[in-house]
Amino acid sequence: MLLYRWSAPAAALASALLAATPLAARADAAEDMKYCESQQEPARSVCIRDVKKAADPSGAGEKKLPQPNNPDGKPYKVVGGTRVDAFTMEGFRAWRNGACDRCHGANQEGMVGPSLIASLKTLSKADFAAVINNGRLDKGMPSFGQNPAVAQHIDALYAYLKGRSDGAITKAKVEPLD
Ligand code: HEC
Repeated sequence: MLLYRWSAPAAALASALLAATPLAARADAAEDMKYCESQQEPARSVCIRDVKKAADPSGAGEKKLPQPNNPDGKPYKVVGGTRVDAFTMEGFRAWRNGACDRCHGANQEGMVGPSLIASLKTLSKADFAAVINNGRLDKGMPSFGQNPAVAQHIDALYAYLKGRSDGAITKAKVEPLD
């Protein structure tokens, strides 16, 4: 019967998957995989694919977003003041895509909105994320929570702006390191 025919490869897939999954996520994934195995095609394949994806949120094997590359513990990496790692570069693109310069100035020095060079000396990363996501609509800061070009890159955006605020990134316009 169909179910039987599918269960050997599914078991192999499940154990390969579980070996590569952090402990905490394993129990859940094993349960879900059992459920998937009880389904008929084509639901079964879709189910297994989704469980696989959920068990590996980093998306290994799929196209990855750049990750921070910060041996010294800083969220950005910069060489020569303007050449930055892929993660920080992503933050710069989010800055451009959000057109933040319209209000915060081309060099983050402040215009209608405050200087982010100054703000990021004290603003925590959590507060930064909150203000980007929610805005401060009554004060003129728009919300970017619905704008994926910004909202999906908040950590990188923070890294880029932190580098500017620290004075480590010496010009607003940066170039990729590699
Ligand atoms: C339409 C103008 C406008 C745009 C566009 C804009 N901002 Fe703002 N932003 C403001 C204003 C005005 C404030 C000050 C709000 C207040 O008084 O609390 C602000 C506040 C902030 C703060 C909080 C600063 C602090 O010290 O608390 C951050 C961080 C910030 N903006 C980042 C950004 C980023 C990043 C972008 C682009 C994704 C952006 N802003 C786009 C107008 C803008």
